[in-house]
Amino acid sequence: MKVLQWVAVACGMFVSVSAAQAADATDGERIFSEICSHCHNSTSADKIGPGLAGITKRRSIEWIDAWLKDPSELVKTDEYARKLRESNRYGMTMPAMPIMKDDKKRADVIEFLKTLN
Ligand code: HEC
Repeated sequence: MKVLQWVAVACGMFVSVSAAQAADATDGERIFSEICSHCHNSTSADKIGPGLAGITKRRSIEWIDAWLKDPSELVKTDEYARKLRESNRYGMTMPAMPIMKDDKKRADVIEFLKTLN
């Protein structure tokens, strides 16, 4: 009985680990260079939008995740997002991107953003 329980626990762990799929900064870098880099530098220099160096220190991971998922949604509930958008510093707003509806792809991009200092 004990052995069976152990096997069940071990299998459960394996399933949850593979379901969680660890975020991958290399995949995130690819997404960044294909999409984000049109508007963002990986340095602190502004491009079309703000430079993203150190962004994971300036904003929480939860904030970045919600922003990437849908900036217009976050603007409705978040003061910083609303001010950023209303300042119109960049003369345009960041669009919601279909690819960023994917939880894994957002996690990958955020993993890459963590490497920008
Ligand atoms: C078409 C241009 C464009 C694209 C593409 C784009 N952004 Fe943005 N982004 C902006 C603009 C402009 C802002 C400034 C906020 C606003 O007015 O919407 C911004 C703001 C941000 C912020 C908040 C920065 C801060 O200093 O608070 C983050 C984080 C961000 N973008 C990440 C990304 C990531 C990651 C991608 C790629 C998945 C991406 N953006 C794609 C234009 C873009």
